[in-house]
Amino acid sequence: MTTLIKNGTLITASDTFQADILIEGEQISQLLTPNSEVSQLPGLDVVDATGKFITPGGVDPHCHFDLPMFGTVSSDDHYTGHKAAAFGGTTTVMDFAPQAPALTPSPTGRGGESGFQRGMEEWLKKAQKAAIDYSFHMNLTRFDDSVAAEIPTLVEMGVTTLKVFTAYNGRLRLDDGGIFRALRVAKEHGMLVMAHCENGDVIETLIPEALAAGHTSPEWHARTRPSWGAVESTLRMAAMAQETKAPVYIVHMNAGGEADMLEYARERGVPVMGETCPPYLFFSIEHLQRPDGAKWICSPPMRSAADNSRLWEGLAEGSIQTIGTDHCPFFFDGTKPIRYEGKEIAIPGKELGKDDFTKIPNGLPGVQDRLPVLWTYGVRAGRISANQFVALTSTNPAKIFGLYPRKGAILPGADADIVIWDGEKRVKYGVAHSHQRTDYNLYEGWELVGYPEKVFLRGKMIVDGEKWLGKSGDGQFLKRKQGEIL
Ligand code: URP
Ligand code: ZN
Ligand code: ZN
Repeated sequence: MTTLIKNGTLITASDTFQADILIEGEQISQLLTPNSEVSQLPGLDVVDATGKFITPGGVDPHCHFDLPMFGTVSSDDHYTGHKAAAFGGTTTVMDFAPQAPALTPSPTGRGGESGFQRGMEEWLKKAQKAAIDYSFHMNLTRFDDSVAAEIPTLVEMGVTTLKVFTAYNGRLRLDDGGIFRALRVAKEHGMLVMAHCENGDVIETLIPEALAAGHTSPEWHARTRPSWGAVESTLRMAAMAQETKAPVYIVHMNAGGEADMLEYARERGVPVMGETCPPYLFFSIEHLQRPDGAKWICSPPMRSAADNSRLWEGLAEGSIQTIGTDHCPFFFDGTKPIRYEGKEIAIPGKELGKDDFTKIPNGLPGVQDRLPVLWTYGVRAGRISANQFVALTSTNPAKIFGLYPRKGAILPGADADIVIWDGEKRVKYGVAHSHQRTDYNLYEGWELVGYPEKVFLRGKMIVDGEKWLGKSGDGQFLKRKQGEIL
């Protein structure tokens, strides 16, 4: 099929200009000056984008679909989450495959079988229902010489990124020695290490103290996960990046001090990059103090208005490279069903921790919200430019994670993942407008100006206004190559 999107204004990471886009099959074949002869060719499927602007499909580098935790599961799976992403203008998502637990006894008798293959198989199976394109990072949650020896098999599987944790003691955390050695191996194989930065030991000390003192409300989730822990952990990761020369990417940056540390390290040539997420730009501990504060519980937690501002500054100055979502939704009240695609569904959620903040499932919805909320409250509010918006939410993640220029670009040869926006559309946003499979939305009642109108995935229109044209199984697994250091 050949499609021409004509008369639109293209916004890329570097330019804004008028051009027609010719799509042949799944790729963009040409960018044409408006009204060129091609537009007269018979048999063309013409989409008129007069008065609209066009961006490359969003690339969300950080999502968790169908993730079991806290005795329940994140409430969007690889179909519902993908569909929500598409309605919000995102056409590529990256999830985290788990490192499967060690087999005991190990099949070789030598111990240390990595669990990478089993983790990947599990996640690839879940993702068979994918509706948009996707890839995986690998959580690295145990490490020894035999695990290290299997890291190159990930690259062969198209997984060029490892996530490490400096918190969640006894579950996901690696000690600093393990992280340091993993960085060396990653460097050797051209991989990028992503780091969840908090101080696990401080957190594990503060939580029982808070509970013993009777502090059980959501606000104490933030009070027991102090901001300075995130800051020093970010600097610790930067120090190890400097020593090993391995690139590091700090996920879900939440504290202003982390932006300071990133800037400090980058000014000294350390290969360290960072991602923040919309909630850390808009919300604070005050939201956790509300009666429905559990809605904002995720890790790391919401900080302060000053932190919000410092993160915006880091984005505008270019010291923070991406905005992901860390989409990991739960119901606020999972005892009451919602309707999704005509069926009732209820999944246990935040109510599990109504008497104890440590039992509230950690994670927030956001995969659909990211682009429209950032367009209105980032670009239109003058905090970032339209080109920075595209860089932060599409082009930079594609480059850093080895998908560029197939993804994140409107260029001949790129996948035709395209979003046509109605820049004038006014939306009173909220749960009723969202396809995220949960019973609440963090941006309830927010006024948005500008919303994705048509969304194409590899040349196929999957969203047309309110109509869903995509389907389960349409999404492709993307094997990633080595990314760039930005
Ligand atoms: O609370 C969150 N962010 N849940 C997802 C897991 C993580 O650490 O990213
Ligand atoms: Zn994390
Ligand atoms: Zn996450």
